Amino acid sequence: MAIEAAKYSAVEELRNGRRVEIRALRPDDRADLLEAIGRTGAESLFRRFFVLKRAFTEKEIEFFLNIDFIAHVALVAVVEQEGRSMLVGGGRYMVVQPGKAEVAFAIVDQYQGQGIGARLMHHLAEIARIRGIRELIAEVLPDNIPMLKVFEQSGFDLSTKREPGVVHVALQLT
Ligand SMILES: CC(C)(COP(=O)(O)OP(=O)(O)OC[C@H]1O[C@@H](n2cnc3c(N)ncnc32)[C@H](O)[C@@H]1OP(=O)(O)O)[C@@H](O)C(=O)NCCC(=O)NCCS
Repeated sequence: MAIEAAKYSAVEELRNGRRVEIRALRPDDRADLLEAIGRTGAESLFRRFFVLKRAFTEKEIEFFLNIDFIAHVALVAVVEQEGRSMLVGGGRYMVVQPGKAEVAFAIVDQYQGQGIGARLMHHLAEIARIRGIRELIAEVLPDNIPMLKVFEQSGFDLSTKREPGVVHVALQLT
């Protein structure tokens, strides 16, 4: 089945009734992406990047935004808030070798725990599977229960390898 990841869009309803659009990241999302990062707390950024991040360089921002939707696929979660669309999270995968990609997610603090991470995971894995990715991997901090739960509840066969300070996660998509 062909899939045009760059035009991907799906609307989901969360447990609390909130509607969220899961769609491909677009080059014109730059301002909204930066705003979302600005509303993401230091601990969340640490859990995502494994270092204390206060600001991102222009090169890093370019990397986040320049998505080819083949080797690097990025989805965002958008909600309607006070009459405007707000970017509240994102998930991406990067192919690290044929058939294998590394995933990472970040949800704006205020929107965590509502099921958005799980929905992003579902759609990202669907694109990956259709694209012939057989394994998704991730590195997760051992105390990052929400991320580990998203992987556990994804419905895919999960294996974990614990090392001091990091859990290596692997999901088999086939
Ligand atoms: C990890 C993260 C992406 C998960 O996304 P999310 O939208 O908050 O997660 P969801 O709401 O989809 O929750 C998934 C599961 O985790 C559980 N969960 C969420 N927050 C939790 C918490 N603080 N403690 C325990 N369980 C929690 C939820 O209950 C849910 O399980 P359920 O469906 O059985 O209720 C998000 O919390 C985040 O951005 N964290 C900071 C950045 C980060 O850690 N990135 C990961 C880098 S690999």
